[in-house]
Amino acid sequence: MADAIVAVEGLSKHFGPVLAVDDFSFTVERSQVWGLLGPNGAGKTTTLRILMGLERPSRGNVRLFDAPVTPSCPQLVRVGAMVEQAAFVPHLSGLTNLRLWWEANGARFADADLDGALAVAALGDAIHRKVRTYSQGMKQRLGFARLLLGRPELLVLDEPTNGLDPGEIREIRELIGRLTLQGATVLLSSHHLTEVEQVCSDVLVMNHGRLVASGTVSELIGAGSSVYVEVDDRERAYTVLSALPTVAGVLLQGDGLLVDLRDGRRSDLANALVGAGLRLETISANQNLEDAFLGLLDGDRVVS
Ligand SMILES: Nc1ncnc2c1ncn2[C@@H]1O[C@H](COP(=O)(O)OP(=O)(O)O)[C@@H](O)[C@H]1O
Ligand SMILES: [Mg+2]
Repeated sequence: MADAIVAVEGLSKHFGPVLAVDDFSFTVERSQVWGLLGPNGAGKTTTLRILMGLERPSRGNVRLFDAPVTPSCPQLVRVGAMVEQAAFVPHLSGLTNLRLWWEANGARFADADLDGALAVAALGDAIHRKVRTYSQGMKQRLGFARLLLGRPELLVLDEPTNGLDPGEIREIRELIGRLTLQGATVLLSSHHLTEVEQVCSDVLVMNHGRLVASGTVSELIGAGSSVYVEVDDRERAYTVLSALPTVAGVLLQGDGLLVDLRDGRRSDLANALVGAGLRLETISANQNLEDAFLGLLDGDRVVS
């Protein structure tokens, strides 16, 4: 595909007897924000490391900007990547760390678009403080500032909120939001469905090294596609819901029912239940998102 920034075709990777990636194919085009979603051990990191030339594929084609990926191939300077733990010199300021890292490649710091990177990272005056004094979330934002130096055309982020507390996770999500508003092209891995749902436009679901599903977030996991309900009489609700033309399927799930709504509206469903004299105790999209993910993974548990 001519416009593809990333083109992966038939990628497989063996580590001894372990097949970490199994015939995996996908493309990323400009300004798309793809989530690579899967439980731990699915093969996400391996895929991203191969894309960055850090690991060799056992089989398949991996191209960036329409040229094959090899270790230190020239296209990699157009990519800002966070696929390993970002390391900084603790007794130097955030700013000095950025400058030394940039100049280590022989480039002029004046050409790095520092202001653009700092505007996204939003570290404020803390950029002048020693990294030793940074919280985990601030270090992660400094990592983002670093990968944004030189205005990369593609961002590759491996579980960018791993190890952060909820407040820090929200800050990183907002940061990624600022990037996507600027039209960034992003490939981001995560084992949290909600994260992918909040920041990505498209999603690849991966498990046991294989592609399980792909499409837009709303196609795959969007609210409205399925809904979790709890009522006072589950068996009767099952009968009522199964008869609705907008309902594609009903499953008993926990204390309630998981309803595949397709194009129907949640309010129609609520009206039908109430109209049949049932008491509606819970109706939520949230619960069902995790269920949809679990469904895509064919029963495998998601490890958090
Ligand atoms: N360097 C390695 N040597 C041996 N096995 C590995 C190596 N890297 C990853 N694996 C294995 O490959 C599989 C996929 O791992 P990984 O790509 O890290 O998954 P994820 O990032 O989705 O958690 C796992 O079974 C993991 O144990
Ligand atoms: Mg990983």
